[in-house]
Amino acid sequence: MDNKRAVRISASILAADFTRLGEQVREADSAGVDSLHIDVMDGRYVPNISFGPLIVEAVRRVTSLPLPTHLMIVEPERYIQDFVSAGADAIFVHQETCPHLHRAIQQIKSLGAKAGVASNPGSPLIMLDEVLEDLDAVAVMTVNPGFGGQAFIPSTLGKIRRLRRMIEERGLDMDIVVDGGINVNTARLVVEAGASVLGAGSAIFGTGETVAEAVRKLRGSIEL
Ligand code: DX5
Ligand code: ZN
Repeated sequence: MDNKRAVRISASILAADFTRLGEQVREADSAGVDSLHIDVMDGRYVPNISFGPLIVEAVRRVTSLPLPTHLMIVEPERYIQDFVSAGADAIFVHQETCPHLHRAIQQIKSLGAKAGVASNPGSPLIMLDEVLEDLDAVAVMTVNPGFGGQAFIPSTLGKIRRLRRMIEERGLDMDIVVDGGINVNTARLVVEAGASVLGAGSAIFGTGETVAEAVRKLRGSIEL
């Protein structure tokens, strides 16, 4: 597919070794990842708890890479400002957590950050129909959110294809981020379906090889 060259890699620090987070961020940076994906979990919207703005601030100090921040939390509107102040360049809210989705998107943009919406495997794309034009990106969740290291859900491929078609039909310029279970076996499938950003945690920080080697293999897997 001809959009392959434009495909970017966003490394989720959720899978990093937190005893040496700064080092891992630098490793990902020198390995040439395009951004660092920040997974924020509150133990309410998703079963797991991860971290808050403090970690974004710390990561911001050691890299100038974009930090798209994925809020898997209830009432995300209450924390958008904090995350942007901490250094998040883009904020992804879950469509399912925002009864006033349009307002949340405007709030993100008014703070100068890029606005994204994440959509769960069980949530239909039609829920984004009215806001698509306002977005910089849609994150198609390719696992149910809450944990790293889960298996890719194949039925999301059809959703990625449909979203790519919607974007093209409307002549929009926005990213399709895929998030969850992306590795050397699944990356090619999602890129062929139309994804432009690969979110990946364990395939980058949890393979047992160096981050550089893991990134090289992931990139290699989407080349012809
Ligand atoms: C899942 C998170 C993902 C996760 C990806 O709730 O949103 O970003 O960290 O991890 P892997 O790549 O290990 O599936
Ligand atoms: Zn995520």
